[in-house]
Amino acid sequence: MKIREATFVTGAVSMTGMPVDGLSEVAFVGRSNVGKSSLINMLLGRKNLARTSGTPGKTQEINFFLVNHALYFVDLPGFGYARASKRSRAKWRKTIANYVLERAPLKLVFQLIDSRHSPTELDKEVMLLLKESVAARIVLLTKGDKLSGNQRAKSVDRTREILKSFHTEIPVILTSSKTSRGKKETLNWVRTLV
Ligand code: GTP
Ligand code: MG
Repeated sequence: MKIREATFVTGAVSMTGMPVDGLSEVAFVGRSNVGKSSLINMLLGRKNLARTSGTPGKTQEINFFLVNHALYFVDLPGFGYARASKRSRAKWRKTIANYVLERAPLKLVFQLIDSRHSPTELDKEVMLLLKESVAARIVLLTKGDKLSGNQRAKSVDRTREILKSFHTEIPVILTSSKTSRGKKETLNWVRTLV
């Protein structure tokens, strides 16, 4: 898939603020600071289209980026932000669950997990939640540039094991927004599934 054009369209805080044009959506889900916004920029070949930050909790709205006038990349707020209040975490759960389970145009969900660490309890919770979604799912391991070749292979293996234990054998791709590793493979899945 070739990216010709990408523009920010809108930030929604609930289902009511989302686009109504019916174009297909590809969502990026994962904990705060895992690298969702950076990965969207890398895939779209744009430096700062999605705002990134070293401080977790940067993306607070559900941001829609129109790609090639044909589909949306959707940047979701991160979960598991340590300093977030109980109430805001509960709200996150509800918003994301509603979105991934009930949003008709949603065709593909990329679940992002930090390649340096084993999936957390929250990551596993999201894996199970996404099993209920009718959208296709793929796991993207992020920040792969921080690992050695051996560690990268281990990271992919342990993620596959966990998915297998949940009876969900979906693709796992190791990525890096710094080196663009995994870009082609990830965009190929978008073309195939959307
Ligand atoms: P929230 O919006 O808070 O949910 O975070 P996010 O998941 O959108 O993360 P973001 O893209 O803002 O990146 C968080 C931090 O990780 C930033 O400091 C990025 O520079 C860094 N980062 C993201 N991707 C990579 C990567 O592939 N490699 C390296 N080395 N750093 C990365
Ligand atoms: Mg973000």
